[in-house]
Amino acid sequence: MPNKVPNAYSPVAKAYHWLIVLLVAIQYVTAFLLPHIGRATPPSTTIDLHFSFGVLIFLVTILRFGYRLIRPVALDASDAAPWERLLARTVHRLIYLILLVSPLLGWASASSHGLRVSLFGVVPLPAIAARGAQWANEAGDVHSTAMWALLWLIGLHAAAALYHHFILRDATLRRMLPGGGSRS
Ligand code: HEM
Ligand code: HEM
Repeated sequence: MPNKVPNAYSPVAKAYHWLIVLLVAIQYVTAFLLPHIGRATPPSTTIDLHFSFGVLIFLVTILRFGYRLIRPVALDASDAAPWERLLARTVHRLIYLILLVSPLLGWASASSHGLRVSLFGVVPLPAIAARGAQWANEAGDVHSTAMWALLWLIGLHAAAALYHHFILRDATLRRMLPGGGSRS
């Protein structure tokens, strides 16, 4: 079947998935610990870690999404109801969208608050908004809201995977685990 879109995740796709799960879990810890970011917030380790892990997640998501474009995977749930397939696909797309756009909004907010962004203090990164820029302050609010919404989406996504595994007892979760192939 040379022209068929594969319906199994490759080891690389699985590695990207679980690497991002790990990084995002760490990132929500830094987000919980983040102080209120105002006009005179001094730099701190928590802020640096939030920016560094955030930029890292952004970069890994670009690689992952690029890899997905050249090696697409079909949603393999032919036995699921149409609404369920639509919901799964919509949640996957929203997760990609938020992880590709919202880190830039946080970065703009960091710049407008005069906070320097770097990758773990090793790779300095440029400011992407002028200090005090109103649009970038507002981007920070959108960033926070989008990232808390992402947490709900991830919760729904993970709950669905666990429901398939433990209640429906199908191979949905195994598809994303090492050694697992397609469901059918
Ligand atoms: C996937 C990556 C990221 C996640 C999941 C995330 C998550 C969050 C969350 C949940 C908040 C709200 C915290 C609160 O309510 O107190 C927040 C705030 C913030 N984040 Fe991120 N973040 C990410 C990436 C980044 C990046 C890359 C930067 C900057 C380079 C950044 C900079 C900020 C700033 C400046 C705020 C405060 C926003 C404001 O109040 O104006 N974040 N982040
Ligand atoms: C930070 C947390 C997570 C993110 C950002 C995330 C993101 C994604 C995305 C974007 C996809 C679609 C992959 C594609 O087709 O390109 C996916 C698929 C999948 N995820 Fe997650 N995920 C997360 C956590 C989890 C957790 C905790 C589980 C298990 C409990 C899980 C299980 C799965 C499974 C089984 C699939 C394959 C679904 C299918 O195509 O049948 N994910 N995930």
